[in-house]
Amino acid sequence: MHCLDDFRLTLRKNELVPIVIGGMGVDISTSQLALTAARLGGVGHISDAMITAVTDRHLNTRFTKNKIARHREWMNSENKSAVHFDLNELSLATRLYVSGTMEKKRGTGLVFLNCMEKLTMNAPRETLTTRLKSAMDAGIDGITLAAGLHLSTFSYIADHPRFRDVYLGIIVSSKRALELFLKKNQKFNRLPDYIIVEGPLAGGHLGFSAENWQDFSLSAILKEVRAFLEENHLDIPLIAAGGVFTGTDGVEMIQNGAAAVQVATRFTITCESGLPEEAKQAYFAAGENDVEVNMASPTGYPMRMLKSSPGLHQNTKPNCEAYGFLLDSNSHCAYLNDYYAQKPTQKTCLCSHMRNFDIWTCGHNVFRLKETTLKNADGTYQELPAEHVFKDYQFSKNHQIALPQSDFPR
Ligand SMILES: Cc1cc2nc3c(=O)[nH]c(=O)nc-3n(C[C@H](O)[C@H](O)[C@H](O)COP(=O)(O)O)c2cc1C
Repeated sequence: MHCLDDFRLTLRKNELVPIVIGGMGVDISTSQLALTAARLGGVGHISDAMITAVTDRHLNTRFTKNKIARHREWMNSENKSAVHFDLNELSLATRLYVSGTMEKKRGTGLVFLNCMEKLTMNAPRETLTTRLKSAMDAGIDGITLAAGLHLSTFSYIADHPRFRDVYLGIIVSSKRALELFLKKNQKFNRLPDYIIVEGPLAGGHLGFSAENWQDFSLSAILKEVRAFLEENHLDIPLIAAGGVFTGTDGVEMIQNGAAAVQVATRFTITCESGLPEEAKQAYFAAGENDVEVNMASPTGYPMRMLKSSPGLHQNTKPNCEAYGFLLDSNSHCAYLNDYYAQKPTQKTCLCSHMRNFDIWTCGHNVFRLKETTLKNADGTYQELPAEHVFKDYQFSKNHQIALPQSDFPR
């Protein structure tokens, strides 16, 4: 019987524990969480989702206030065409956040940035280029291209001195998405260094439709992608994500052709996760029927979350002057449009609610989190140190889950 520690993820000269903590925006996969994974020899992700707001929170900057001050006159208007990010500020926020994290890195592992294409920020090309190049300037080890097909992304950064040295990976949920990405980027003579294959049980946005995600399985997609790489004589490590709840689930993925696993939901309730206490307790308490895959995200992608997320079904005034991360290249956002048309909408103001931790996105297995900890005397559940969860994935066998030491006398 194997455990994940019997295997290694090889990325060029790095021999890593094959456990990657996935990016969890906004500010759920904190620097501290990513740094713990790196210290223990694995890979951790920070996320650049709403980076200006995250930097304001942690580093006392004023990027959000400055953006509001520049655009106050548009606050009551549906027209957001003039509401833009200052690229110098976006770059500064990214560099401050990334370099602040990288300076604290210890151990043999790596810290990557999760970068979502769907954060179109009212100027998709310019803002994505700035985000990626600034993160490379600030010394990030790798960048995971997420939430989008990223067909043009390499072209934005090919002239950066670190284009061939930084690790670059892509998240796909189908062979087709990978094929498109590789075809479009052939001319750069630069393959991705890793491919994250994300199945339908993941948290966050999903690469499946809200109606038929149940028809897909991570192992089947992994097999298909593996076969495609073999046919094309491509040797790129695959990282399996979505629903890997025990170390043994991870071992099974490795036996199925993955080189590592990416996990997230089990880390949402750790002390290092950015979620507030109330949300962590809601994740612990959730039952299987408390979770839904819905279309509340204005991105158009389905998203999995707790039905009790406080940000659902709120008539929040769009806050694009402060945030505006989902404005597309025509200055539209599905929520903004519905709000001003006074239409009943299933969309939510995702920027405002993710910023305030009011959309409780989670993986399908969130209802199993209560199995991983102890109950406190007051009926709440005990948060876990990320190191405990990481090591449980690393060393556990036979689908066992190690419980923490009790915090209170029984
Ligand atoms: C709370 C939460 C937030 C997430 N946010 C993002 C994100 O911002 N970008 C992204 O690419 N994936 C995101 N994901 C997906 C994870 O990075 C990961 O691939 C997936 O959830 C792994 O499956 P698991 O949660 O079952 O372990 C998120 C997942 C969770 C649970």
